[in-house]
Amino acid sequence: MAQLGARFHGMEEVVGSIPTRSTNRSPRIMPARPSANTEVIPAAADQAPILANLLELYAHDFSDFLDLRLGAEGKFNGFPSLPLYWTDPGRHPFLVKADGNLAGFVLVKRGSEFSGRAEVWDMAEFFVVRAYRRRGIGTQIARDVWKRFPGPWEVRVMEANVSARRFWERAIPHFTGEAINPVRIEKNGTAWTLFSFESS
Ligand SMILES: CC(C)(COP(=O)(O)OP(=O)(O)OC[C@H]1O[C@@H](n2cnc3c(N)ncnc32)[C@H](O)[C@@H]1OP(=O)(O)O)[C@@H](O)C(=O)NCCC(=O)NCCS
Repeated sequence: MAQLGARFHGMEEVVGSIPTRSTNRSPRIMPARPSANTEVIPAAADQAPILANLLELYAHDFSDFLDLRLGAEGKFNGFPSLPLYWTDPGRHPFLVKADGNLAGFVLVKRGSEFSGRAEVWDMAEFFVVRAYRRRGIGTQIARDVWKRFPGPWEVRVMEANVSARRFWERAIPHFTGEAINPVRIEKNGTAWTLFSFESS
């Protein structure tokens, strides 16, 4: 079984880096639209089982384009590094609520997965449950998280995750007000799109 956490965190070397087409257009202004009252809440250690449940839904989404298989007990169990989010000071777990209902999670960690730059904030995992998608909630929570951690940021998305790439292509320039300049990176046979920008 391919492990989701290992796919995200266990990569060892960058085998190639090809700049993609730069987006020189001005970022589109997102229209205002009715949304939910969204909260991004630091997750306490005793909420780790909630994160583990949401990670199962996340893994199910990723099984659309990754070879992830359920274990015999009906779980993916693909995120062995979850406990580190309450022991490593460079890691920050968040739960997301929309109108008081659980609606997603965000995991942030310090350190680039690609360049080794220790000061970079890495959007390690990011998830909105299906019932709340396409309401601007992902955009709002990304913005909230970027504001909490000023400095250099990296957001990386597997090329196979086409919808997430479209999301980041929209959310990042909406936050920075600048055109994005993503870079294509191949690592251990997986192609990624890497977005780098500053949060001030
Ligand atoms: C990617 C994800 C976080 C988007 O969350 P969301 O709350 O639906 O995003 P928003 O409503 O803020 O979307 C903003 C814009 O991004 C783009 N977008 C979002 N989802 C998209 C999709 N499935 N297909 C194409 N474009 C999409 C659209 O331009 C959208 O604006 P529109 O709805 O007016 O067209 C959510 O689909 C998700 O959790 N996916 C599974 C986990 C995942 O892949 N996480 C990212 C890992 S890198």
